[in-house]
Amino acid sequence: MTNDIQNLKEEISGEIKSANDLKALDDMRVSVLGKKGRITALMKTLGGMDADERKTKGQALNALKNEIAELIKHQENALKKQELDARIANETIDITLSPRRQKKGHIHPISQTIEELTAIFADMGFSVAEGPDIEDDFYNFTALNFPAGHPAREMQDTFFLPDDEQAQGEHIKKLLRTHTSSVQIRHMQDNEPPHKIICFGRTYRSDYDMTHTPMFHQMEGLMIDKSTNMGHLKGCLMDFVRAFFDIDDLPIQFRPSFFPFVEPGAEVDIGCSRKGGGLKIGGNKDGSVDGWLEILGCGMVHPNVLKNCGLDPEIYQGFAFGMGIERMAMLKYGIPDLRTFYESDVRWLEHYGFDPLDRPNNATGVKS
Ligand code: PHE
Repeated sequence: MTNDIQNLKEEISGEIKSANDLKALDDMRVSVLGKKGRITALMKTLGGMDADERKTKGQALNALKNEIAELIKHQENALKKQELDARIANETIDITLSPRRQKKGHIHPISQTIEELTAIFADMGFSVAEGPDIEDDFYNFTALNFPAGHPAREMQDTFFLPDDEQAQGEHIKKLLRTHTSSVQIRHMQDNEPPHKIICFGRTYRSDYDMTHTPMFHQMEGLMIDKSTNMGHLKGCLMDFVRAFFDIDDLPIQFRPSFFPFVEPGAEVDIGCSRKGGGLKIGGNKDGSVDGWLEILGCGMVHPNVLKNCGLDPEIYQGFAFGMGIERMAMLKYGIPDLRTFYESDVRWLEHYGFDPLDRPNNATGVKS
């Protein structure tokens, strides 16, 4: 019987160890220790034994029962731990959340170009002047040496505003400025020479196609003192154009042209090449060009304009220049249609716009 108990113990221990889930283990427990369990059945046989045998067997069986109970408890703990570990491994919650795409605003090419122009001219010592969009005939034309009734006034497709009741003569006639040259006049009238300014602003002409919109932006520059000459004009504009397009050897030509407010007057063209089909700003390797693109107007300020602003042309002289900001942006950034600048299409802005955190340096020279 002692051997039997030893065998039973080994048998049951083996079964306990191979019970690999709590349900199987519990079934095991019932089959061993339950009312009809194997050890219980053996306990029941004690009644039929004599006192001595009952005593030894009883003790051995009790010891076996306790050991088995202990083993079962041990296995139960092991299985519970196993189960918990498995749950912890399987039930991990993913608390990460992929970030939502943040839309970053973009700087409009007009604003970008204005800042670039400002940075370049600020570097050369120009400061920024301003003037109104609604001008009168005097500042837009007369003071700029457009003779009364001269066809040049029509040349610019002017938007005239309705006649003022109190209007007397041309001076009062209101219009939307057709160019920023009016700011030259206002600046010279309100300030003492020398003058060294640039100005940016909206300008208006009755025109609409791929390269014209009724409202567009111009930039004007003016430099007046006692000795500024055509050489300064050329040097200043060549430096500017090469800095703006970031091409050190960009071919540049000054082509004689007419504007009533300058004498002599010129238009500035930049060289381009047609290598590989498309038009590219900059000359060929050997310095030749395949074509010229007109980019701005300039000239020595006409003596009549100086006189109109109270300056003596025998003492003062200088140059002026003007350009379309959209045109500069279109050429530099390859934007084909001017009208798209004003369609407020966010996709267009995402494509052609600029990073707001990466601005051209305009720390100096901007009027505060
Ligand atoms: N105001 C001229 C235009 O709009 C440009 C210009 C400015 C030309 C200054 C010469 C000097 O066409």
